[in-house]
Amino acid sequence: MDRYAVAGNPVEHSKSPDIHARFAAQTGQALTYERLLVPLDRFETTLRAFAASGAKGCNVTVPFKFEACRAAHRVSERARLAQAANVLCFEPQGGWFADNTDGSGLVADLRHNAGVDLAGRDLLLIGAGGAAAGVLAPLIDLRPRRVVVANRTLHKAQALVQTHAAWAAERDVTLQASGLEDCGSGYALVLNATASSLQGGGVPVAGRVLGPGALAYDMMYGPAAAGFLEWAAEHGASGRDGLGMLVEQAADAFALWRGVRPETTEVLAALRRGEV
Ligand code: ATR
Repeated sequence: MDRYAVAGNPVEHSKSPDIHARFAAQTGQALTYERLLVPLDRFETTLRAFAASGAKGCNVTVPFKFEACRAAHRVSERARLAQAANVLCFEPQGGWFADNTDGSGLVADLRHNAGVDLAGRDLLLIGAGGAAAGVLAPLIDLRPRRVVVANRTLHKAQALVQTHAAWAAERDVTLQASGLEDCGSGYALVLNATASSLQGGGVPVAGRVLGPGALAYDMMYGPAAAGFLEWAAEHGASGRDGLGMLVEQAADAFALWRGVRPETTEVLAALRRGEV
């Protein structure tokens, strides 16, 4: 049977094995999907051994997304822009193909599950680490009017804006970097891609960033997203956590490996009921 895994450290709490098992059952695909705990200094050797055992591919999670992209022989345009990969395909002739479905997963969740149309709107992306980098190009593809990347460390936001400048210009999207205090107001979508809540920090921007009818979206889920969603409600905005993005990025990875994209609605509903 074809083997896949989620490779990370830690991986024991990953929901990916359950999500992919549901996708496989639903689409009638025969495969196994396991958790691969990778020692922090042995990413390539561990993955090479997994590929040599006949595995077809894997998802990559914290903290290996950058290393996965660097180690690949072929890299998709969106992974190259993010300089990070969450999916690897082990190619039959040897070598790895790296892709990034985090951004397409976020966009699928925004468009199809949340029904949000961002064309011509203003968007604030908070954070400039790996999570933000993974979603910026697909967000620009939605043709918002303006995307502001706000980060505690300004030069990281500036670097991200610089790598995506041509991508944005080709699509007529204004792309700007800012700090957290001076990032403007009145956005239609405010996306939290920081690790602030994991470090015991609060929401690092003022409530004025939320425009009328805004959506506040945290790319995390569970307790890590709770503070941001409370903040959104306090300021009269609707909130959404990253569970939908989790399922949609998995569906895009599954499609890449198997050539068929699973239906996500039921799996997302099961996750929200706590069954996965
Ligand atoms: P990830 O892969 O989850 O994006 P990362 O690359 O370490 O992790 O990036 C973490 C992001 O959260 C960064 O944008 C970081 O800001 P800095 O670049 O200034 O470090 C942001 N972050 C982490 N803790 C934060 C806090 N307490 N307040 C504001 N931003 C924070």
